[in-house]
Amino acid sequence: MGTGVGSGRKRSDSDTVVCTLDSTATRHFNRVPDKRYETSDFEVLRTVGTGSYSVVKLAIDKASGSPVVLKVMSKSLIIRKGQVEHIKNERAILALVKCQFIEQMKASFQTPISLFYVLEYIPGGELFKLLSDRSVLPEGEAVFYAAEIVCALRYLHSLKCVFRDLKPENVLIAADGHLKVADFGFAKVLRSEEKTFTLCGTPEYMAPEVIERGGHGLSTDWWQLGILIYEMLYATTPFTDPSPYQLYENIISKPVHYPTGSPVALSLLAGLLQKRHVDRFTEEEILKHPFFQTIDWTVAERKELRPPFVPQVTSPTDSSNFDTYNDSTQMGTAVYVDVFPEF
Ligand SMILES: Nc1ncnc2c1ncn2[C@@H]1O[C@H](COP(=O)(O)OP(=O)(O)O)[C@@H](O)[C@H]1O
Ligand SMILES: [Mg+2]
Repeated sequence: MGTGVGSGRKRSDSDTVVCTLDSTATRHFNRVPDKRYETSDFEVLRTVGTGSYSVVKLAIDKASGSPVVLKVMSKSLIIRKGQVEHIKNERAILALVKCQFIEQMKASFQTPISLFYVLEYIPGGELFKLLSDRSVLPEGEAVFYAAEIVCALRYLHSLKCVFRDLKPENVLIAADGHLKVADFGFAKVLRSEEKTFTLCGTPEYMAPEVIERGGHGLSTDWWQLGILIYEMLYATTPFTDPSPYQLYENIISKPVHYPTGSPVALSLLAGLLQKRHVDRFTEEEILKHPFFQTIDWTVAERKELRPPFVPQVTSPTDSSNFDTYNDSTQMGTAVYVDVFPEF
């Protein structure tokens, strides 16, 4: 068994492969927040998450008294790892999106050494934690989570935005039990019919066309939805292997093994996990698939489906649904201020 909920290990930093092969400019969106923030505007409480290039801290916005999270990224690390374009895409897309199934950015700013996003705090923890606690989900519950992710992806695809990093670690549960997709580090807005070529994402969730680098588009997200539904139902991903080389081989050529499951679940997974993206289910086929027969998509879009689980959140700053981290704060000399003028 590899990483993921079955192994209890999050696919974090080192599992995320990045190699920038294209520098195709993404359309630039500039929605400048009304207020410029600085770190003294916040009382930092504790770290609630970490990723490849970021630390995410729960904080209080002193002016409003509301909880927020600060996603903090080191400018030098981003530049050293060739992530400047990705971060600029992430900021532009976070500023653009307004959807109740997607985490909302309130502002961004920079200090001498770091870049910051100010994001709404989503206190229910990661879908990863729910899957780790429960191992597998009953199919009816998986239908709910899959449906809300479909709502988020449909919204993004309507903006021609490919998300590219769907996995339970990047899906958060709000206090009311509804989902919010987080982490736009690999998201990109495509020009009409454009394909993109960057090998990026989390290996177990990468689609064959991403690994083969022949160009990929929006349907790569539907492959990732297939892997996520598989993981919700079976507590593992279908191509997992300790060797990264073998993992990629499996994704490209190994047939999917389905341990159990209802015929409708297997039929949806078979349609999503088509190796050739042209054979994969389209959005339209997904919406009308019998796996989602209990879902009225208008009701789902209005966030009116009943969540199967409501997390325990005892106060607005309750962070008990997140792992604990060794907190540290670094300050230093100003660097690369000119590289990120949009922050
Ligand atoms: N808005 C949020 N509210 C609560 N926790 C969050 C929020 N955004 C991110 N996190 C936590 O921080 C982790 C890392 O954030 P993410 O945006 O995924 O960073 P990275 O791009 O480095 O993976 C997430 O997996 C989640 O646990
Ligand atoms: Mg992440």
